[in-house]
Amino acid sequence: MRTVDLITRKRDGEELSAEELAYLVEGYTRGEIPDYQMSAFLMATFYSGMSEKEVGVMTELLLNSGERVDFSDIPGLKVDKHSTGGVGDKTSLIAAPIAAAAGVTVPMISGRALGHTGGTLDKLESIPGFRTNLTIDEFKAQVAKLKLAFVGQTPQIAPADGLLYALRDASGTVESIPLIASSIMSKKLAVGLDALILDVKVGTGAFMKKQVDARRLAQLMVAIGRRNGKRVQALITDMNQPLGYAIGNALEIMEVSQTLQNAGPIDLTRLSIEIAARMIHLGKIVPTIEEAREIAQRKLVDGSAYKKLKEVIKAQGGDPTVLDKFELLPNATGARDIVTTRGGYVSAVDAQVIGAASTLIGAGRNTKDDQIDHAVGVILEVKVGQKIDPGTILCRLYYRDEANVEEAADLVEDAFRISASAPEEREIILEVVS
Ligand code: URA
Repeated sequence: MRTVDLITRKRDGEELSAEELAYLVEGYTRGEIPDYQMSAFLMATFYSGMSEKEVGVMTELLLNSGERVDFSDIPGLKVDKHSTGGVGDKTSLIAAPIAAAAGVTVPMISGRALGHTGGTLDKLESIPGFRTNLTIDEFKAQVAKLKLAFVGQTPQIAPADGLLYALRDASGTVESIPLIASSIMSKKLAVGLDALILDVKVGTGAFMKKQVDARRLAQLMVAIGRRNGKRVQALITDMNQPLGYAIGNALEIMEVSQTLQNAGPIDLTRLSIEIAARMIHLGKIVPTIEEAREIAQRKLVDGSAYKKLKEVIKAQGGDPTVLDKFELLPNATGARDIVTTRGGYVSAVDAQVIGAASTLIGAGRNTKDDQIDHAVGVILEVKVGQKIDPGTILCRLYYRDEANVEEAADLVEDAFRISASAPEEREIILEVVS
């Protein structure tokens, strides 16, 4: 078998066999297939897609590149959630502690920043000392004790996904339904889950720009889950503007803290509660989704989810007081206000542009080996629907290195649309696929 032949066949739209896909994934994981050839294969897949059979094989290959963590000795149903990637999307850090505080066991395996979108692991690593690279034994022990732990791919858990994820990020091949579906589902199947809530984002800031594509992605992942005996529900949610106000790692941790103290943005709070409620319902803590919503709301309002996140931060080596004293988090040294000269209603805030600007000033990666600057990012000062006057600050860029600030400022200025009349209100949850 020759790698180049498989690349050209995929480029020409052919279906590859399980052996051929194994040759590519296993060869790349062993370091025998170079980045440039694997990137070409990913690009060919991006354009030609994969059959449902190929996606199933790809998921198995990524999954079998590592171990399966067995949680069967921990009582209760294991439930996780995963987002397909958004801008300002910090719901995992709110929904998971709510669900855990309600008694659900949540072995959460998360991802890093990808393209213009953020990653839960990078956000957590902005907390000084926080370790996302727990060993499998540490992961299991913490889940048994606290009902919640956050880890990423390790050399033990879906390592091939870790390698491909970084390569996709640097080769413009993220926005592919089969690659996203296999990436997410391989990680999730690696940690013996019983159920999973997927947050499939759609809109300017999502990898899926059209609802029909988001639906296809959701259906594919639900089907993979079902074939593997897992209960999977997918929410298709709006990502036409960033979620909440904060974009950037430490800035988002601050917003998580505010939200868990019941002082967060409405859109973020609403979505996090709905996701947590569905986790609570699938975890069979209560029989109806209505009761689950009440519990989720209560665990947020009474501070038990906030307390849970602090326990988890402490257990994973971080300093939980960062949630009260934001000065202990990495802080930017410079700030630039973006001000409007026009009055009217904010009718759009292009989430992709805001995410790209935030990456440009260091909050994300441009190459797979780039270091993230956890301190930097963007804080929106307005959201869609808000009435504004000329001179209103639209957002603030927080940076440490001046290098790309001008370019980022130009970008974000164009992200805001101001119109004479109020835009139609959009629902945050657009559809449920199960
Ligand atoms: N999250 C993942 O884990 N993988 C993707 O490809 C996209 C989002």
